Amino acid sequence: MAAPDRRLLFLLAVSLAVAAVSSHNITDILDGYPEYSLYNSYLSQTKVCDEINSRSTVTCLVLTNGAMSSLVSNLSLADIKNALRLLTLLDYYDTKKLHSLSDGSELTTTLYQTTGDASGNMGHVNITNLRGGKVGFASAAPGSKFQATYTKSVKQEPYNLSVLEVSDPITFPGLFNSPSAASTNLTALLEKAGCKQFARLIVSSGVIKMYQAAMDKGLTLFAPNDDAFHAKDLPDLSKLTSAELVTLLQYHALPQYAPKASLKTIKGNLQTLASTGAGKYDLSVVAKGDDVSMDTGVDKSRVASTVLDDTPTVIHTVDSVLLPRELFGGAPSPAPAAGPASDVPAASPAPEGSSPAPSPKAAGKKKKKGKSPSHSPPAPPADTPDMSPADAPQGEEAADKAVKKNGATAVATSVATTVASVAVLLAASFL
Ligand SMILES: *[C@@H]1O[C@H](CO)[C@@H](O)[C@H](O)[C@H]1NC(C)=O
Ligand SMILES: *[C@@H]1O[C@H](CO)[C@@H](O)[C@H](O)[C@H]1NC(C)=O
Ligand SMILES: *[C@@H]1O[C@H](CO)[C@@H](O)[C@H](O)[C@H]1NC(C)=O
Ligand SMILES: *[C@@H]1O[C@H](CO)[C@@H](O)[C@H](O)[C@H]1NC(C)=O
Ligand SMILES: *[C@@H]1O[C@H](CO)[C@@H](O)[C@H](O)[C@H]1NC(C)=O
Repeated sequence: MAAPDRRLLFLLAVSLAVAAVSSHNITDILDGYPEYSLYNSYLSQTKVCDEINSRSTVTCLVLTNGAMSSLVSNLSLADIKNALRLLTLLDYYDTKKLHSLSDGSELTTTLYQTTGDASGNMGHVNITNLRGGKVGFASAAPGSKFQATYTKSVKQEPYNLSVLEVSDPITFPGLFNSPSAASTNLTALLEKAGCKQFARLIVSSGVIKMYQAAMDKGLTLFAPNDDAFHAKDLPDLSKLTSAELVTLLQYHALPQYAPKASLKTIKGNLQTLASTGAGKYDLSVVAKGDDVSMDTGVDKSRVASTVLDDTPTVIHTVDSVLLPRELFGGAPSPAPAAGPASDVPAASPAPEGSSPAPSPKAAGKKKKKGKSPSHSPPAPPADTPDMSPADAPQGEEAADKAVKKNGATAVATSVATTVASVAVLLAASFL
């Protein structure tokens, strides 16, 4: 059980690391202050609260309901999100520190610099002791005015979290230019982000319409980049029936708004647009520091960049195609027995493993690749076929695929995941 053990330790380490930094809850703190309720509500809607909670040292500059309502009156949620990020300083400032800046001025970084699309140092904030004892905050853009001034201290948890009220938002020309979901051409956006192949598939299959229909209710899209479609060990997607292709593409989307910082906080399974209940076609998240990957049980795919973030729609690029266990988990006859794709007439060829002629030459060569099936614990018989003729490798590449798709591997992984989740839960209850 060497592999599952490593996985378990890794998950434990991750859960401990997460537990160590997520001890404040900004929404909970601000719930006690009705004068900031609008600000707080936008922290939740845009999920900037998850970004704040994941930082161990942070100062939130909050706006009263009056200041907040004039800020939001004319902005998309994407722009509001960036305004809130620019008001979140990644250092600890209390009243004393604000009034005793060396040289009377300091440049500090913000969430907008680290998680937004700041160009240059536009995600920095200049804090300056102004005349008359006031403390002003301005964008680092040359010539910015100190419109935002410190009004009062709200809450301190030294030296991790500080909440300070300021008079106005911090802005600069260009802050409010985020692409918005409403005005965006999804295909063009994906093509520009290096996901041409994925864009072609969602258009040709018609799945783009399902995505668009989900965009006002909540949509998280994982778009594999073009390299992902050229990966050596990618199963031959052209062998999928059209209904299976639709399922595969639906599997790349969640019916909820989950920006990267929020993905990190998600425990357990996530439903995709392909989910049919009982955990079928679900995804899970593996997060380590700033690295987030989506885990299908068959493969893991790193969440690379965010190309659109306009609540409730977010589009991420991922490094590999997400291969659902139900389609690629290596059942002897890979035509899925359950799930939406099973409505398809059975006439079509199985998506993979359907290579009819096992080559005797390579037949004995079961190349192990990372996830070795030899570690698989006892598993339900139905899910652990021996290498069936259909799975018999045809060559090096086929051998790789066969091992990758082998049911035993998938089950080993799933058992390991279950064991690890239980361990994480146990660990969590001790903290
Ligand atoms: C933070 O507090 C809010 C409101 O009290 C609650 O809904 C939310 O689940 C909490 N978040 C975490 C991560 O505990
Ligand atoms: C709202 O936005 C429009 C277009 O961006 C702009 O012309 C207008 O001045 C804005 N109004 C306010 C109140 O900010
Ligand atoms: C902050 O802005 C003021 C006024 O533009 C400038 O004089 C000062 O050097 C800036 N401080 C820093 C640390 O950049
Ligand atoms: C406070 O910050 C320190 C280091 O930045 C961190 O080690 C510690 O866990 C944090 N404490 C809380 C309560 O968040
Ligand atoms: C969206 O962009 C694609 C090219 O990237 C173009 O073919 C299509 O016509 C555009 N759709 C709309 C509605 O503008």
